Amino acid sequence: MADQIRVLIVDDIPETRDHLTKLLGFESDIEVVGAASSGAQALQLAAELVPEVVLMDINMPDMDGIAATERLSAEVPDAAVVMMSVQGEADYLRRSMLAGAREFLVKPFSSDELTASIRQVYAREQEKQSRRAAAPVMVSSNGTGPAAPATDGGGDRDGQIIAIFSPKGGVGRTTIAVNMAIAAATELGKSVVLMDGSFQFGDVGVLMNLNPKNKSIADLVPELEAGEPESLDTFVINHSAGVRVLLAPPSPEMAELITPTAVKRVLDALRRQHDLVIVDCTSWFNETTLAILDAADTVLTILSLEITSIKNMRLFLEVADQLGYEHGKVKLVLNRADSSLGIRVSDVENSIGRKVDHTIVSDGRSVVYALNRGVPFFLSNREAEVSQDILRLAQAVAGDRVAAGSDDARKNTQKKSLFSFR
Ligand SMILES: Nc1ncnc2c1ncn2[C@@H]1O[C@H](COP(=O)(O)OP(=O)(O)OP(=O)(O)O)[C@@H](O)[C@H]1O
Ligand SMILES: [Mg+2]
Repeated sequence: MADQIRVLIVDDIPETRDHLTKLLGFESDIEVVGAASSGAQALQLAAELVPEVVLMDINMPDMDGIAATERLSAEVPDAAVVMMSVQGEADYLRRSMLAGAREFLVKPFSSDELTASIRQVYAREQEKQSRRAAAPVMVSSNGTGPAAPATDGGGDRDGQIIAIFSPKGGVGRTTIAVNMAIAAATELGKSVVLMDGSFQFGDVGVLMNLNPKNKSIADLVPELEAGEPESLDTFVINHSAGVRVLLAPPSPEMAELITPTAVKRVLDALRRQHDLVIVDCTSWFNETTLAILDAADTVLTILSLEITSIKNMRLFLEVADQLGYEHGKVKLVLNRADSSLGIRVSDVENSIGRKVDHTIVSDGRSVVYALNRGVPFFLSNREAEVSQDILRLAQAVAGDRVAAGSDDARKNTQKKSLFSFR
């Protein structure tokens, strides 16, 4: 039947495969097209059978479900993965979502939960594909799409854009972006929107415990192509902490739909309707990250007491100079500044030839506890030193506006050098 959802089951236990096959056999709109007993077989069958949904067990010998999902996302991107796990821990969820899974089911689950998940991911996938087909101008990633019609949009503010960047991953960008956004909203009374600028592997949603089914920047971009909407309410999520959030696309391959031109348009729309736009950027340079850094009034560059972080920071500061960013635009934030790893703050400053502007203490307990509960530490542990550091940072930056100037022209002549390091 043409209308059936084609499902591939992947589980190393034969009884589970049989059980799931029988269970789904009762559903007239679902067809089990195959069953694989390993990650490797899953990749092979998925390429042959082109399923729409893959039910993937997380724990398998050889290639586990997360690794298989990562490969599947690249090799058969239209197959939506529903991960199945006996563990419901946030870390598993996070890793699965980062690998490209669309849903996460904790075993044992009911047949209703199972079929509802399959139908949901299928519906979302269909919607995504039709959106992609309807918006061909965005597919090029060179930023040469047509200019948006001039509108004066739904807001008249001139909010401040703060990019949280680092030339090395894993140094605390997302942690700082999320908690700083909450601090600025709750303590400084600002209207704040937090944009996940890590379009491929954004995890702002995971840290804030937001449902990945929510709308994302991928929904907003086509809307802005047609002119600025009166209100952004449909696209940004109101988090209970009083912050608004614009999520990254739900799956990595959609990142290519977000061109630099589109990013600029989004930032413009956000700044017109908020006091503060905080953007959690990726740690590598590409055209879209550059568009964010250019548009930003302030770039908070995060570094840690690690030699690689310091080396990359030195290179980044040189590049920022070449780009013509004013000195005050780039601020250095040393995260986990008190961790005793054999490098002192003064060593860092000597090495990069510049003072660190702000420091944030290391507090693994608060940070990890918050992460596992999906409640940012600024909310659950406001008195902690790490929260106070974040608040000081928010106060210093949000009250300290630096004009961005026109960096675009300078950028165009210097851009090449940006791609030469990571
Ligand atoms: N001040 C801190 N004290 C203790 N742990 C921290 C602190 N800041 C960040 N961490 C931990 O460091 C890890 C990396 O943080 P985070 O995900 O925010 O970094 P990132 O730069 O956004 O990484 P990615 O490159 O993956 O996007 C996380 O496990 C986080 O909990
Ligand atoms: Mg991050």
